[in-house]
Amino acid sequence: MNEAGFDPALLDRLDPGWRRWLVLCAEVGSTNDRAGELARAGAGHGSAVAAGRQTAGRGRKGAAWHCPAGEGLAFSVVLRPRLPLALWPRLSLVAGLVVAIELERLGLAARVKWPNDVLVGARKVCGVLVEAGAGFAVVGVGLNVNVGAFPAELAGTATSLQHELGRPVDREPLLVGIRHGLLCWLDEASADFAAVLAALGERCALRGTRVRATGSHGPIEGVVSGFGPGGELLVEDHGRLTRLVQADEIRPV
Ligand code: BTN
Repeated sequence: MNEAGFDPALLDRLDPGWRRWLVLCAEVGSTNDRAGELARAGAGHGSAVAAGRQTAGRGRKGAAWHCPAGEGLAFSVVLRPRLPLALWPRLSLVAGLVVAIELERLGLAARVKWPNDVLVGARKVCGVLVEAGAGFAVVGVGLNVNVGAFPAELAGTATSLQHELGRPVDREPLLVGIRHGLLCWLDEASADFAAVLAALGERCALRGTRVRATGSHGPIEGVVSGFGPGGELLVEDHGRLTRLVQADEIRPV
């Protein structure tokens, strides 16, 4: 193990070239911030930062991200998408999809809770934070791999891979696999977004569930019917269709 808690020999077996794209830090504030700094200094598409410990890891809407050192996986990938800027919101969907597919390889039925949480059962196992800079995006992934215990406020809604599988899971294959998946599926999102939507549709956590959400036009309630052609969430209520492009927390009711 190195000081960031990753096994270089295992990384060598998974990807002998990993030192060219991955920076391992024992401790950082936030891997998203560090990746952003690297991107501004010219780091290329697919460069990544992983940390043993984040002192200021954050989630969406400024929330803190709980990730005990050595138990969770916290990393960020620099992407330089060829997509027009207006389509960059697709990155969140792609990231959720990639994580769900990676967890399926472990035998878990993972689902994407729009836009980019990944759930196992009804519990959140992974959160994604996408931040855009000039000519690049940083995709930050926080995955509860071997997290044993959650703070009281998360105990009822969060889970970890170790908890779901009943055994500890190596973090290195997840890091390598998710980063690789992001690069592949980002190409797919540029070439054939319908294929991304089809893959997402098979993994939609809320399909058929009655939800409440606050969209750009205020609060809405209805049943999730899937994803629209632009990746928006479709919510139907008595024949009235709402296309959620952006929303605060979506809660089943
Ligand atoms: C969320 O669910 O609100 C998103 C959580 C994203 C957490 C990850 S951990 C790695 C990266 N660095 C951060 O500061 N945040 C993201």
